[in-house]
Amino acid sequence: MDKIELMATSTFGMEALVKKEINDLGYKIKEVKNGRITFEGDLQAIARANLWLRTAERVLLKIGDFKARDFDQLYEGVRSLNWPQWLPENAEFPVSAKSIDSKLSSVPTCQSVTKKAVVDRMKAEYQRDWFDEDGPLYPIELALYKDRAILTIDTSGTGLHKRGYRELSVKAPIQETIAAGMVYLSRWDKDRILIDPFCGSGTILIEAAMMAKNQAPGLKRKFNSEKWPIFNDFEWPRARVEAKKAKKINVEPRLIMGYDQDSEAISIARYHAKQAGVEDIIHFQEQKFKDFSTNRKYGYIITNPPYGERMGEKEEVEELYREMGEKFRKLETWSYYIITSHSKFEELFGKEASKRRKLYNGGVETQYYQYYGPWPPKN
Ligand SMILES: C[S@@+](CC[C@H](N)C(=O)[O-])C[C@H]1O[C@@H](n2cnc3c(N)ncnc32)[C@H](O)[C@@H]1O
Repeated sequence: MDKIELMATSTFGMEALVKKEINDLGYKIKEVKNGRITFEGDLQAIARANLWLRTAERVLLKIGDFKARDFDQLYEGVRSLNWPQWLPENAEFPVSAKSIDSKLSSVPTCQSVTKKAVVDRMKAEYQRDWFDEDGPLYPIELALYKDRAILTIDTSGTGLHKRGYRELSVKAPIQETIAAGMVYLSRWDKDRILIDPFCGSGTILIEAAMMAKNQAPGLKRKFNSEKWPIFNDFEWPRARVEAKKAKKINVEPRLIMGYDQDSEAISIARYHAKQAGVEDIIHFQEQKFKDFSTNRKYGYIITNPPYGERMGEKEEVEELYREMGEKFRKLETWSYYIITSHSKFEELFGKEASKRRKLYNGGVETQYYQYYGPWPPKN
């Protein structure tokens, strides 16, 4: 098969991280635009990207793109694409659409025109009038942006943030893809101490520990495209074996430690770490932030404290941010990284961040405040 075009989607602010991850997997980036990172690969790339990308939302297979200013152009454009190359006779192919700044703004009509065009192309190819759609799933997406139509098939299924380890719920967990992005942005590595004093269900530390073990985030879950008959050369099993072999077994990070005042959150964090296969390298302990102290040096704090968005919580959280400022500022050799939606964070914390970055955590606009500490002396 010739090269195929894939698109990894990401939430706002994460594009550069997704691009780097794709480069590290060895694929050529073609374009980075509007939360979509287009890259070139082969069939195996579908499996590898789904298994390995930590900061992307989904991996879409690009079928084609063209100008579509009216429904005739849309119908003809969709019909001309080679759907039967991918969709078997029994494929289930629901169509979703979105339209931004385009003449074709009626999403339901765009969806039904697209569906009709795909069905007509399939009818011509398979010489039949009716499709039961009782086979593997091929979610088709039409994305219209400034009158340009992009047609893709979702190879992932559930979003890639669903790694498969987070079964139980706590209050305000951070999205796994954002947690992974926070760790990447901090440039933490396993030879430095890592602490999350508001660890909740442990997501940030679990993502960090999976990185330390070079563990593919998708190993514990299934993906849409695993059932596609086009993968007849064992691309998926081969990618899974590659990922299993890449996992480092005897990793001993310096120290990865999570604290929370909520004992139930700590139990859940321990359970999730076990599900993720990283319980051997993370320690969790119930502790209130007022009791937090350390005399270690050159550590990292990466954390997602409460935001104080709920009624009655604001004052308490503001006091907590002041306390964080007092404690963290005393850790002169440490680097600390805090995500919050609170607009006065730096003021309350009492120090301007070395760098800020806008990120969306589960749709909520937040800032990631990054305070760089010094490098440890070279031994
Ligand atoms: C936004 S949640 C963290 C969620 C976490 N990142 C996750 O993915 O599950 C904030 C956490 O801070 C904890 N917390 C709030 N105030 C605290 C305090 N004073 N001391 C310790 N933990 C506190 C809460 O119990 C909650 O689990």
